[in-house]
Amino acid sequence: MNITFLLNGETVELEDIDPTATLLDWLREDRGLTGTKEGCNEGDCGACTVMVSDEDGAKAVNSCIMFLPQLHGKAVRTVEGASGPDGDAHPVQKTMVDLHGSQCGFCTPGFVMSMVASHTNGATDHDTQLAGNLCRCTGYAPIIRAAEAAEAHPVPVWVKDKPVSIQSTPARLPGSSDELAKIYSENPDATLVAGATDVGLWVTKQLRDLDPVIFLNRCEDLKEITINDEEIRFGAMVDMNRMGDALADLHPSYAEMVRRYASVQVRNAATVGGNIANGSPIGDNPPALIALGATLHLRKGDARRSILLEEFFIDYGKQDRAPGEFVEAVSFPRQADRLKCYKLSKRFDQDISAVCGCFNITVTNGTVEQVRVAFGGMAGTPKRATAVEAALTGQPWTRETINAALPAFAEDYAPMTDMRASATYRLETAKAMLVRYYNEDQGKLSNVLEVSA
Ligand SMILES: Cc1cc2nc3c(=O)[nH]c(=O)nc-3n(C[C@H](O)[C@H](O)[C@H](O)COP(=O)(O)OP(=O)(O)OC[C@H]3O[C@@H](n4cnc5c(N)ncnc54)[C@H](O)[C@@H]3O)c2cc1C
Ligand code: FES
Ligand code: FES
Repeated sequence: MNITFLLNGETVELEDIDPTATLLDWLREDRGLTGTKEGCNEGDCGACTVMVSDEDGAKAVNSCIMFLPQLHGKAVRTVEGASGPDGDAHPVQKTMVDLHGSQCGFCTPGFVMSMVASHTNGATDHDTQLAGNLCRCTGYAPIIRAAEAAEAHPVPVWVKDKPVSIQSTPARLPGSSDELAKIYSENPDATLVAGATDVGLWVTKQLRDLDPVIFLNRCEDLKEITINDEEIRFGAMVDMNRMGDALADLHPSYAEMVRRYASVQVRNAATVGGNIANGSPIGDNPPALIALGATLHLRKGDARRSILLEEFFIDYGKQDRAPGEFVEAVSFPRQADRLKCYKLSKRFDQDISAVCGCFNITVTNGTVEQVRVAFGGMAGTPKRATAVEAALTGQPWTRETINAALPAFAEDYAPMTDMRASATYRLETAKAMLVRYYNEDQGKLSNVLEVSA
């Protein structure tokens, strides 16, 4: 496979590359650019952060789980390219030095590149921007002060990368869903790569040989977001940051859950289609989407079908998807916001859910009219709580009704014990989430970050 991209301002043309070579390995081993560090090699620590620019602007991403073909036509900037061609330090490098911001030698370049990316795109929510640079060993407060101080300085011209023009594009990088449908139905055994935040780990951690692979990141029509009076529809390749932004006013609790989904770097790559298609029982989108009554849109060749999202998840590791069929979009009806998403994880930021409970309960004249409750982390698939729903529907919206419905959780779920949580803890917290929903609806807001003696 031949690809072209810009590296620190210079055009790079690569021929016959291994399609699952990671950007991090290539930077360090082929180019000798060892400023970009390998910490975890699985998207968790942020040591390998680089900035990637395309038509949508500049983004921080983890180079350890980004495959080289995902860069075709884009521009990459590593920590070596943060300073100017004449050796001028980038504003965040200057403020990091002036304000004594540093982590260890592994973590600092990643922090700097996250800060360069947020400085370039004007983001000032620094705690969120740096949540994916995980380590807090040494000097977090000075780093935040450095990020704030850099806001006053203009973006240097040398980091304003433009996407590179390309002559041709390999067939395995289809440019539309029509091209994807054709190549995938001809190669149904191929592995689809969307954001690679799961697939990347199959290579870096499981050392799997994935060829043939088909990359979806150039299918622009799969990145569309449609919001009209009837429905909200996300193309499969909508990344989690764009999805969170689109949901902010419509379903703020969902958007807040998305903010806690992995990190900025992972959310810039991870897609809603990948989060559904991977069939994970602990993916954060499926329970929220099921609670919103979502429909999944699938396509194989020219044939399209739509199913209720909850019916896609047949069993652990088994989904209703035929060989050569791919997720095109997910949609749900436009509705008044009654959705609350409660994500329980061991760490507040950048952690996979132990339990994720999503509640969408409509109350009319004091009576529960419609209920959709769905959970991740409680079964082998994302799953609706149909017994809980039945226990609530048609009942007065009171604490007594909530209490009477709580035993139904044990009918819906027999969760497992694993490293994230015990079965008992999962069941008890699921019940507590329903109580929390009721309390919040009564104006008794809880703050899960608040610790009081
Ligand atoms: C550090 C880290 C933190 C994470 N935190 C979270 C978290 O908080 N919450 C959470 O839910 N997940 C989390 N994840 C998991 C991961 O980010 C998500 O599952 C992500 O949404 C996967 O999307 P992707 O685009 O990266 O998929 P990929 O890795 O590219 O693909 C995943 C699977 O889906 C298939 N696929 C992708 N797109 C399609 C399509 N359109 N049609 C058919 N099949 C397709 C692929 O072939 C593959 O089997 C985390 C991952 C990492 C590395
Ligand atoms: S090396 Fe840890 S996120 Fe890439
Ligand atoms: S491991 Fe680098 S600062 Fe903690």
